[in-house]
Amino acid sequence: MTRAHGAAEAGRIRSEEEAGIGTESPGSVRASTIAIDGPAASGKSAVGALVAARLGYRFLDTGAMYRAVTWAALDRDIDVRDAGAVAALTTSLRIDVRLGEGAAIEPTGVVIDGVDVTACLRDPDVEANVSLVSRVAEVRRTLVAIQRALAASGRIAMAGRDIGSVVLTDADLKVYLDASREVRARRRADQLRAAGEQADVPAILADLERRDGIDSSRAVSPLTAARGAVMIDTDDLTIDQVVERILEAAA
Ligand code: CDP
Repeated sequence: MTRAHGAAEAGRIRSEEEAGIGTESPGSVRASTIAIDGPAASGKSAVGALVAARLGYRFLDTGAMYRAVTWAALDRDIDVRDAGAVAALTTSLRIDVRLGEGAAIEPTGVVIDGVDVTACLRDPDVEANVSLVSRVAEVRRTLVAIQRALAASGRIAMAGRDIGSVVLTDADLKVYLDASREVRARRRADQLRAAGEQADVPAILADLERRDGIDSSRAVSPLTAARGAVMIDTDDLTIDQVVERILEAAA
């Protein structure tokens, strides 16, 4: 039996006072569920967290969940190309998700069988294997169920690859962020350098291309812009400009 759980607050109904900690007045915003999709390093996490902070919403970066399952598979020496083994592992895990919320939104946290793996989610071996794990149907079924439970009480921005097209098909607002590969590779390199790590731009570019290829061509829930999504090409926009466009669309 699947023992996957959302955060303890998953089914909780939040009051306006409790959740209305953003700078926008609650009455001025129509969209309660906001889906933000896009390819690797298109800015979904940074933008999604800022949008949520401005609205006083919670933020869920669903990529963290796929990365956490990948971490568990590697930790247990499971062959990530063995879909059956990855599926069996996923249904045996207890997955708890810690959503960011408030003015300074923390990265989405994931606890696997009681172990907080958040700090490991950007490890190079997780990065290299996550697209293989996330193409397994059972992995997606399990994680999507948690994501939907977390969204049930509304007031949430959720970032991923399939949020508008599969997870929250009735989201109040769907956004698809895009950017050229070169810009995305440069942004990821800047992120790594800001974190004090080395950045090899050609290697980053190759990894983005490889992940984009697997994510866009997989049989289950491939990366795609949902019908009706607001398309934003972010090549020449700052993060703040992208946030403003989304807030305008959410009003
Ligand atoms: O931050 P970045 O865009 O590089 O990646 P991420 O959003 O953390 O997602 C990591 C990987 O998880 C992606 O390359 C996909 O393979 C997978 N993923 C997915 O399949 N569906 C989602 N909703 C989110 C992530």
